[in-house]
Amino acid sequence: MKLTLSVIKADIGGYVGHSASHPKILDKAQECLKAAKKDGLLIDFHVTNCGDDVQLIMTHKKGEDSEAIHKLAWDTFVEGTKLAKKLRLHGAGQDLLSDAFSGNVKAMGPGVAEMEIEERQAETVIIFMADKTSAGAWNMPLYKMFADPFNTIGLVIAGNMHGGFSFELHDVKEHKKITFNAPEEIYDMLVFMGAPGRYAVKAVYHRGTGEVASVSSTQRLSKMAGRYVGKDDPVCIVRSQGNFPAVGEILEPFTMPALVEGWMRGSHHGPLMPVAQPQANPSRFDGPPRVISYGFQLADGKLVGPRDMFDDPAFDEPRRWANQAAEYLRRHGPFEPHRLPLEEMEYTTMPQVMKKLEKRFVNL
Ligand code: F6R
Ligand code: MG
Ligand code: MG
Repeated sequence: MKLTLSVIKADIGGYVGHSASHPKILDKAQECLKAAKKDGLLIDFHVTNCGDDVQLIMTHKKGEDSEAIHKLAWDTFVEGTKLAKKLRLHGAGQDLLSDAFSGNVKAMGPGVAEMEIEERQAETVIIFMADKTSAGAWNMPLYKMFADPFNTIGLVIAGNMHGGFSFELHDVKEHKKITFNAPEEIYDMLVFMGAPGRYAVKAVYHRGTGEVASVSSTQRLSKMAGRYVGKDDPVCIVRSQGNFPAVGEILEPFTMPALVEGWMRGSHHGPLMPVAQPQANPSRFDGPPRVISYGFQLADGKLVGPRDMFDDPAFDEPRRWANQAAEYLRRHGPFEPHRLPLEEMEYTTMPQVMKKLEKRFVNL
């Protein structure tokens, strides 16, 4: 059975500040999607939040980029925004960059990850959702999952994965894409993938069967609005088991809280901390950045789950490590590399300060 799994997310208002989503906003989204399920547009859905971002996890038969599904997500965010305004939540409607829906939410602010698949007998999927970071945050974890034998032993000892995976990278600045084959092209691939601010992994495919293995949202809000309006707070869908990495191989990369862009005012490097969903309420210096992971089994499109995969004491050490890294970085205060390089910062007073001091600069 052909089935589409769509994860569409937006920050439509924070409670309190940018730390979390208000329960009433989640209830509202739930209500909207419930009606769509009753009407037969959705097979199933699940609503959650990672920090101040609301994620709509939906299954249906309309394919990727379906206008009906995107409109449903848009209308749901618009309804949520109305409520956010009423509750005077912070940044109500933050990610909705347009006043009217125009066919596809992709260029309008919300983040989108969708895959149309042939549902397997047992279709295991893991959905990663992050807050206070940007689209490139998935690069290192995806590399480890699908190309690194020190992470994924299946690449070495499982016959159905030994042929490797291919990676589709998007240049988020020039709007170009390129595909690399792992393992033989990993050195070339890492030249680009190692620069996640510019090149983000959009999708991963099984080389033997061509099946899609993973899809991420790569929208860059900053570039779309022509100014910075928030971090991307991306989502990523990964298929698991059989031809794909095992659940444990998919979660393993997050035992290393890698440094990502985001955190306070979207202008700092910070460790990506894997947490259970109730812990995804970034508070210290508006962070540190969080990632949650929900596991589902799909049954004729029904979402059996979620299981909150980072709700496991085995991730206590990575969390502790992330706190240590956070502490170490915070001691740098306004200095790089804690603070992002000038051109990557979401907030900057540079133009005003420069203008004010222009005349005081003299040639050396
Ligand atoms: C980062 C983030 C927060 C805000 C900060 C200031 O992605 O959401 O760190 O940037 O709280 O928020 P404003 O400018 O809305 O007062
Ligand atoms: Mg926000
Ligand atoms: Mg956010």
